[in-house]
Amino acid sequence: MWKLFKMDFNYSEEQLLVQKTAMDFARDQLLPGAAERDEKMEFPADQIKMLGEMGFMGMMVPEAWGGSGFDTISYCLALEEISKADASTAVPVSVNNSLVCALLLKYGAKEQKEKYLKKLSSGKLLGAFSLSEPQAGSDASNLLTSAVRDEDHYIISGTKNWVSSGINSDVVMVFAVTEKEVGYKGISVFAVEKGSDGFSTGKKENKLGIRGSDTCELYFDDCRVSVDNRIGEEGDGFSIAMTVLDGGRIGIAAQAIGIAQAAMEKAIAYAKERKQFGKAIASFGSVREKIAEMATGIASARLLTHRAAVLKDQGKPFSKEAAMAKYSASETAMSVSTECLQIFGGYGYIKEYGVERLMRDAKITQIYEGTTEVQKLVIARSMLEEV
Ligand code: CAA
Repeated sequence: MWKLFKMDFNYSEEQLLVQKTAMDFARDQLLPGAAERDEKMEFPADQIKMLGEMGFMGMMVPEAWGGSGFDTISYCLALEEISKADASTAVPVSVNNSLVCALLLKYGAKEQKEKYLKKLSSGKLLGAFSLSEPQAGSDASNLLTSAVRDEDHYIISGTKNWVSSGINSDVVMVFAVTEKEVGYKGISVFAVEKGSDGFSTGKKENKLGIRGSDTCELYFDDCRVSVDNRIGEEGDGFSIAMTVLDGGRIGIAAQAIGIAQAAMEKAIAYAKERKQFGKAIASFGSVREKIAEMATGIASARLLTHRAAVLKDQGKPFSKEAAMAKYSASETAMSVSTECLQIFGGYGYIKEYGVERLMRDAKITQIYEGTTEVQKLVIARSMLEEV
């Protein structure tokens, strides 16, 4: 069976404007404090507020629901620029956009959109997405947190972990088991507000990278949530999580490309300037080889990511393509940032040059929103069905 694949490589005026706006903001507002926030594990609260005012917290949400109505390519271009300056800030941006707002936009009832989506997409509230539990990482349907119906409420009990923006968010999309006997078909999702009785957050995790973004456990101790806060039907939760994560993976790919691009640009500038054996190290074959591999890896990952974005906007299946994009981009971010540090040598190993931060930030892109191994599983399953 022969299939034609078409792709338009020209970005529209609107996409380029979004990219330029994000680049200016990232250079002027994110880069200057990024190293300090990383060191102090300080959440970029002011920067997130500004991004909300600029329409960057609900990029793919229609204006009627408080968003900017951008397409997914614009979203990728913006996230790449933000991540180039500060991958930590990209975390709350991507979670709020592609996990929280996307979930409410696709599955939320009108009242839920009025109550939460408008404020989340305009940056007045910040959202988090809570699927993982201590025993349920890659095996995401193996949840123990329960939501037991009690007339017009559910009582949620259990522990969630690895929740990005868990501390700084106002409302969390919480996945819990409403019917134990039916496996993943018994999972439902709820919008749970901070301050709800029985809902508390754990300590901020002390992480290797993306240290400006907060990650924590969430505890639910008989937390009563109105039935009006259940999103979708009972039992729809797992499928909702998987669908939303497909979009999320495009965002993480864009984040990884931003980190890789920053590392490559630093490596090239340094290689031209640094002299050894009487000449710039950029003249050595071993350094040129690294630069060629960096540039090719980044271009490939970007093409895969924008292909997934185009398919998503066309309303076509893009699960496999999103997995390929995330797999490729996160591996590229790790290898490019590691080779960048190698080119810098000892200077890359100290904090002053901002190179080691890129390598530390790159690592998480191979882990969250589905590990590299999970992406390969999704790709292989799809190929085995297709061919
Ligand atoms: N879209 C829609 N539905 C999907 C789907 C998708 N992409 N993938 C699977 N499903 C559906 C299946 O169709 C199936 O439903 P039906 O029986 O009705 O058809 C159901 O879900 C179960 O599917 P599987 O049998 O494939 O499920 P599985 O248990 O084998 O798991 C998996 C598959 C790919 C490994 C999945 O568990 C997975 O993606 N794991 C990784 C989880 C993950 O990404 N976690 C990140 C959490 S968020 C985070 O990182 C923190 C943060 O704050 C950023």
